[in-house]
Amino acid sequence: MTDAIVVEGLVKRFGATTALDGVDLTVAEGSVLGLLGPNGAGKTTVVRILTTLLRADAGRAEVVGLDVVRDADAVRSSIGLTGQYAAVDEYLTGFENLEMVGRLYRLTRAEARSRAGELLERFDLTGAANRPAKTYSGGMRRRLDIAASLIARPRVLFLDEPTTGLDPRSRLSMWEFIADLAGGGTTILLTTQYLEEADRLADRMVVIDRGRVIARGTADELKAQVGGQRLELTVGDAGDLKEAAGRLRPLAVDEPRLDESTRRLSLPVSGGTDDLATALRLLEGTAVEVLDIGLRRPDLDDVFLTLTGHVAEEATGPADDAATGDRTPAPAGGGAR
Ligand SMILES: Nc1ncnc2c1ncn2[C@@H]1O[C@H](COP(=O)(O)OP(=O)(O)OP(=O)(O)O)[C@@H](O)[C@H]1O
Ligand SMILES: [Mg+2]
Repeated sequence: MTDAIVVEGLVKRFGATTALDGVDLTVAEGSVLGLLGPNGAGKTTVVRILTTLLRADAGRAEVVGLDVVRDADAVRSSIGLTGQYAAVDEYLTGFENLEMVGRLYRLTRAEARSRAGELLERFDLTGAANRPAKTYSGGMRRRLDIAASLIARPRVLFLDEPTTGLDPRSRLSMWEFIADLAGGGTTILLTTQYLEEADRLADRMVVIDRGRVIARGTADELKAQVGGQRLELTVGDAGDLKEAAGRLRPLAVDEPRLDESTRRLSLPVSGGTDDLATALRLLEGTAVEVLDIGLRRPDLDDVFLTLTGHVAEEATGPADDAATGDRTPAPAGGGAR
């Protein structure tokens, strides 16, 4: 199988900051790569270099066999990009936005219009096609943005945090769109803060931290690397988490993880279902109210925590901030119907 993306020894510095410190990766044609890492890891920098928006200080990168520096124009005509911040013109309607992008890609007016109509339909935006984009909700902008990146039927698509700021329902439908595209043979490089997203969509993952690759493989390979089982417990009162952790200490084979916001305790264990029974016994007669208890295999959050030493951070700020980036936010009340 040939690689649609090849990256070797990529280095990028911004003043004293080394954003990328020798990144290597490949993405097989027709596959989905999840590029994961905490805030500031260098994900967007990789995407910007691969999409010809930024030049690396060292190393090389090829997309569909074309060098991103020497053959930048040809690369641009083979790719689609949805940036971390929606690049939608606020004052144009959804239809006009897509038509304009089509024209930028040198489609004829008729082609651009028919492709715009097709994509609006596909992304469930037909009803809003003739409204200015500034009246769209964060989720609608995100969909319009992805539609724009598909105008020219790119062979390779870059999605930088495609679902950040979306509500759970919009996220699910976005996952379906992305899975559909991947099923149709588009090569996709996806960055995300949501590990479940990578787990669902990506064939392989590359985890970066401080500009270096710290792990790579399939979700299963990464999970196996972390190993073991977790005893997970939800308590009625977040104030009881420490007490519960103390009581269950004898079962733990590693540091427990406490999350006050979800009132959840996660404890690496090795004894299987016996540990479950023991845990209940250890908590008997205490004030700790157990709402939920169970054993599970490590998930990607555990992988991420083990690898980087911190949990994946959710994006900060409300949906519309994330979607509009440094543009003027849409006026209050101008959101979705
Ligand atoms: N134009 C720039 N000027 C100066 N520093 C920059 C610039 N772009 C990125 N950086 C720095 O490079 C590092 C990597 O940034 P990058 O945006 O690639 O991270 P990221 O993994 O996409 O983070 P996030 O999850 O927050 O989007 C960070 O330390 C960032 O502050
Ligand atoms: Mg980023």
